[in-house]
Amino acid sequence: MPNRLPDDTRTLTRHDYLSDEVYEIERARIFHRGWMFAARGDRLQPGNRTVVELAGESVLLTRDLDGALHALANVCRHRGARLCDQHNDSGQGSLMCPYHAWTYALDGRLIATPHLDDTDVDKASLPLWAYHVREWHGFVFVSLAKEPPAFDEWLGTHCADLLALERFDMGALHVAHTSVSDVAANWKIIVENYQECLHCTRVHPELVAVIPLYRTGWVIDLSRDDGGVAIEGDYSTGYAPGHAMPPLPGLSELDINSYYGCTAFPNMFVDISGTCAVVTSLFPKGPHLTTLVMEFMFAPEVIAGPDFDPTPIVEFNELVAAQDNLVCERVHQGVSSLAFDTGVLTPKDQLVIDFTQHYLAARGPV
Ligand code: FES
Ligand SMILES: [Fe+2]
Repeated sequence: MPNRLPDDTRTLTRHDYLSDEVYEIERARIFHRGWMFAARGDRLQPGNRTVVELAGESVLLTRDLDGALHALANVCRHRGARLCDQHNDSGQGSLMCPYHAWTYALDGRLIATPHLDDTDVDKASLPLWAYHVREWHGFVFVSLAKEPPAFDEWLGTHCADLLALERFDMGALHVAHTSVSDVAANWKIIVENYQECLHCTRVHPELVAVIPLYRTGWVIDLSRDDGGVAIEGDYSTGYAPGHAMPPLPGLSELDINSYYGCTAFPNMFVDISGTCAVVTSLFPKGPHLTTLVMEFMFAPEVIAGPDFDPTPIVEFNELVAAQDNLVCERVHQGVSSLAFDTGVLTPKDQLVIDFTQHYLAARGPV
């Protein structure tokens, strides 16, 4: 038996990262028992719908014509066909199954069953199966649990760092761009990578050029108590001179020149950098694959402006994310080796240690 290091200096094990058994337990005890971030709500205008996959469950998010949000199982009540494939902004008030054309209102009510009489099918008893949904500052959370934990209590327990960013009034922001990528890595490896900056000098030369603290390996500035780190130079992320993006509304001078980031357990990161807020969500597709969605948010009046062009911010963040994704895939490959038992965590990995402990407490024993 190799020397065992104290708990908070060890990473999770190969089994924790890669086994189907652990993934099934995560689905049951974390993803499908609590709340998961699903999407930004402003992407769903009345009449729109989108599909999100929450740890293996396809969920239909809809906003009905009265503006109410719904989270529905993406499964037809007739013979079980999958109903919808992707985002649809048709603005139509109904969903039609591609198989026998049973049709549902956006709140899930079954409203039409072609070729069948009212006496053949009791439509009122066959609405789409519904999940719990909550919109908080524009973040849409879904719980697949029959009896989910109280939302505010759950938020306090699992998203304390997100609550600390409440003052940025993200509910007023709108999504101007969405990026999607698949990463061949376990979702926990991606969270851990986000939580440390010992890799930043090596992996992110462009990022450390604008956030010099990251050259030190620290991901937090211990001299500040607001969680921010200084941005130097043009982190307005590549704006050409004369094309500066206006700052997010209501920010102080310090906020405008700072970067703030947080994770919300289990599947969301938020990055705020003066002119833009980026929400990144992780959707595990199994222990070996994670879909990463980045939603870029700005003030609506900025988006509506004639000179609005988020391309430099999008490209900068996509570059940093691609650099991260590559090293996460390398870690996934490495921890797959039979030689790997656990990795080592150091004092500068404090946020990784915090995540590991939080995860183990939420998951419980295997
Ligand atoms: S399975 Fe959907 S209408 Fe038949
Ligand atoms: Fe990184």
